[in-house]
Amino acid sequence: MAKVKISDSTLRDGQQSLIATRMRIEDMLPILEKMDKVGFESMEVWGGATFDSCLRYLKEDPWERLRQIKSLVKNTKLQMLLRGQNVLGYKNYADDVVEAFVEKSVKNGIDKIRIFDALNDKRNLITATNATKKAGGHAQLAISYTLSDVHTLDYYVELAKEYEKLGADSICIKDMAGLLLPMAAYDLVKALKQTVNIPIEIHSHYTSGVAGMTYLKSIEAGADIIDTDMSPFSMGTSQPATEVMVGALKGTEYDTGLNDKQLKEIADYFRPMREKAIENGLLSTKVLSVDIATLLYQVPGGMLSNLVSQLKTQKAEDKYEEVLNEIPRVRADLGYPPLVTPSSQIVGTQAVLNVLMGERYKMISNETKDMVRGKYGKTPVPISDEIRRKIIGNEKPITNRPADLIPPALAKIEEEMIEYKEQEEDVLSYALFPQIAIEFFKFRQAQKYGVDPSLGNTQNNIYPI
Ligand code: CO
Repeated sequence: MAKVKISDSTLRDGQQSLIATRMRIEDMLPILEKMDKVGFESMEVWGGATFDSCLRYLKEDPWERLRQIKSLVKNTKLQMLLRGQNVLGYKNYADDVVEAFVEKSVKNGIDKIRIFDALNDKRNLITATNATKKAGGHAQLAISYTLSDVHTLDYYVELAKEYEKLGADSICIKDMAGLLLPMAAYDLVKALKQTVNIPIEIHSHYTSGVAGMTYLKSIEAGADIIDTDMSPFSMGTSQPATEVMVGALKGTEYDTGLNDKQLKEIADYFRPMREKAIENGLLSTKVLSVDIATLLYQVPGGMLSNLVSQLKTQKAEDKYEEVLNEIPRVRADLGYPPLVTPSSQIVGTQAVLNVLMGERYKMISNETKDMVRGKYGKTPVPISDEIRRKIIGNEKPITNRPADLIPPALAKIEEEMIEYKEQEEDVLSYALFPQIAIEFFKFRQAQKYGVDPSLGNTQNNIYPI
């Protein structure tokens, strides 16, 4: 039987899930060479929210971060998470932006790119997949896992087939909410292994308390790779712990072959960081405990906490239950999108509006309208005529690939920010986060030329560890 491979995500999802993506490059550098020697299949270190966080909060150049990591991790594949046509932002970008971003990611050190789309619309993955392969990278296509009447085993099997046809080098089952139950995982992985000829990787979160069991059943069904984090940044809303999974599989036919002593040294390095984060409140015990609401309401943990804070600002905390019941209804209206960025925010916000206004769709967010217009892609099931009329009136939704309507943008973007450009990659930082990138560029200039770096109010944002 095949050995199970481990992809360690401590430096991306682990820290993103537990400490709001505030880990700095200085916190990573001292341990990278040791992590490189472990024999991980890959290390996920970039993409997801790290790019935004680098520019916005840490005043770090994300590209420079990647280059520094690459200079110390010479043997292990570096992995990143990419939101398909949304790149690392929250809307669809022009094809030339997606292509250039992927090319530069690989050029600066990324080997493997996990590409997903919130709606599982494969058309939103094509440009990024082709660009990854052209740049010589491994294109892993991820299925956003969710539960609904339409998300059947057949649905996922068909999707996996299509992803393989698109050129996927491997497939990830991305269970961002921790909804994948052990027995369902067994059936799903088994079915996918019988369908496609490429490796299957499992990515889950411990939010609902089942991820460890889910991994084990996935492995029994033939999963090739599991995503874990070093114990100090594991569990809770994060992944199962690397050392625990290695220990659980030791001496079995699935033995990972990784060395406990090496892993312990790495965990010892990260542990004080965790303690400090608990002390200063960055790591809340709330995200560390089992959130059973996830299983009850089938919504991601992060979405629930957003909901609470949205209701708090409206002084409407008593409407919590009502909103929770409204979420599945809005989701059904909008064609059962999986609840992951950005669809989780769109559905959550619309559910809040529906409840607070006392009438459904009396107030409609622009994002909800765009979802109905087809601007995010094709929803898993078509939106009914009734809902469509209610939300966009007589407007005709688009049926082609959303990015087909976006003209090339790179040249114009470069023109806009040319005075700040110090490297080609700066154009891409600006393309994704214009305002935040400019603030960062100013900060960088100020530092370089010894000008007062209080620009952009950066001092308040420095990571407190
Ligand atoms: Co994740």
